[in-house]
Amino acid sequence: MHFTTLLIEPPGTDSQLINLMLVPEKFHVKTAECGPVAWNQILENDPPDLVIVDTDLPLTGNVRIGAAQLLDLMSERPRWRNAPKLMLTSDSSSAIFQQSNKKSVCAAILKPYDPRRFIQEVYNCIRKQLDAHIKEVNRQHIELGTEIKNVAKMYNQNAIKGRLKGILNSLERHFKFEEEFMLQHYYPDLDVHQKGHRQIFAKAKELIDEICHRDQVITGDKIDLIIENVFDGVEDDKKYIAFLYDLLESLTNHITTANPISCAGN
Ligand SMILES: [Fe+2]
Ligand SMILES: [Fe+2]
Repeated sequence: MHFTTLLIEPPGTDSQLINLMLVPEKFHVKTAECGPVAWNQILENDPPDLVIVDTDLPLTGNVRIGAAQLLDLMSERPRWRNAPKLMLTSDSSSAIFQQSNKKSVCAAILKPYDPRRFIQEVYNCIRKQLDAHIKEVNRQHIELGTEIKNVAKMYNQNAIKGRLKGILNSLERHFKFEEEFMLQHYYPDLDVHQKGHRQIFAKAKELIDEICHRDQVITGDKIDLIIENVFDGVEDDKKYIAFLYDLLESLTNHITTANPISCAGN
């Protein structure tokens, strides 16, 4: 699995060093050398797993965009809002230190920094992001399961039809959510998982269309068929969640081994 990073950093030794540190760690690093270039990348692209922003960006030329404006732009864009940001700064009085946890700033590091501390913070930010993804997948599974089971308790036929169509939309959104993450991170079983999603969705749509377009009473058997079909994907999802937890554990191990605490407490 790979992680993507947008590094907003002027060209020079710092930028080269960060690339040298991250590339062997299997990060895909995209670099923006100044505020205006970063601004365009934010407007045109999907967010990466981590944004690294140097607050000492050069403010030259006609269009002057600094780190604070970039943070504002990202916080205004729904897809970028929650992407974790790691700030690098040479100014200890910088407002950025007061902004930690605001605007999704996961860490702020004062320059010059220890490369081990830098890598540790990078992994820490990625781990938080992955943890949030796992929680969201689990939340959507519970919500979807509850929605479907609640239909089985309903009596009003028109209300059931309306709710079933809503479930189909939720299912589509959920599959898209999982697949986008898998695609972005090179999940090894993406093809099989995607095929499973398509089969489940096609079958659920067929069953729901049949129920909604017929003028017959909706029986519990029909609802049970939909429930069975949707829960057919549970095994593939268990595999995916297990993969994410393994990854989370490997990141946690990386953090603890990257900077061991000595007995002297140094
Ligand atoms: Fe899935
Ligand atoms: Fe799922």
